[in-house]
Amino acid sequence: MYSPVSYVHHLLRAHLVPGDAAIDATVGNGNDTLVLAGLVGPSGTVVGFDVQQVALDVAAAKLAKAGLTATLHRCGHESMLDVIPRAMHGNVRAVTFNLGYLPGSDHAITTMASTTVAAINAARQLLAPDGLITVVCYRHDEGQRELDAVRASFASIPPPQGLCMETRCINRDGSAPVIFAFAAAEEPLDILRR
Ligand SMILES: C[S@@+](CC[C@H](N)C(=O)[O-])C[C@H]1O[C@@H](n2cnc3c(N)ncnc32)[C@H](O)[C@@H]1O
Repeated sequence: MYSPVSYVHHLLRAHLVPGDAAIDATVGNGNDTLVLAGLVGPSGTVVGFDVQQVALDVAAAKLAKAGLTATLHRCGHESMLDVIPRAMHGNVRAVTFNLGYLPGSDHAITTMASTTVAAINAARQLLAPDGLITVVCYRHDEGQRELDAVRASFASIPPPQGLCMETRCINRDGSAPVIFAFAAAEEPLDILRR
């Protein structure tokens, strides 16, 4: 069945090509990392972040089983500017955020509004001129605060710097996840004239 996460995977499939560099800002069980690593292939680069070793271990096992590689860091995504190698700065074609907590794990270990917004700002600095940031937001208590902060942050970006789309499910209750997709503008003025 179509889901918010599979919707994001469609966007990534339409965007990434072999050899690209991509970041999974919330590795979790590694499902998004696996998609990114498969799309960029052996000539590409994937870097992942999570604060929980258990998540990185699950993801590393999935990658190994699929014969794919990614460099996984146990640290908060808000540190990505310091951790991502200089050579990748300005060359990252996609950054994915799948917010919240690790399913089946401690719900208190969750992404937080302030660090998430800091990480999205860092991700924007790492993006290639035609790069893409995707964010899946959930609506548990901290999730709703986070969703509001993420929306406000994207809404404040001047249009010439890129376009942000918000996608939400209109035939579910108000707890359904919300997706943001920010596309940096390669030729900002041309895009606005189209
Ligand atoms: C919803 S899960 C991610 C799901 C994952 N992308 C997948 O494909 O399975 C959210 C993850 O964010 C992690 N997380 C929480 N705070 C974080 C932070 N500051 N930086 C990076 N990851 C964080 C959690 O440990 C959790 O594993």
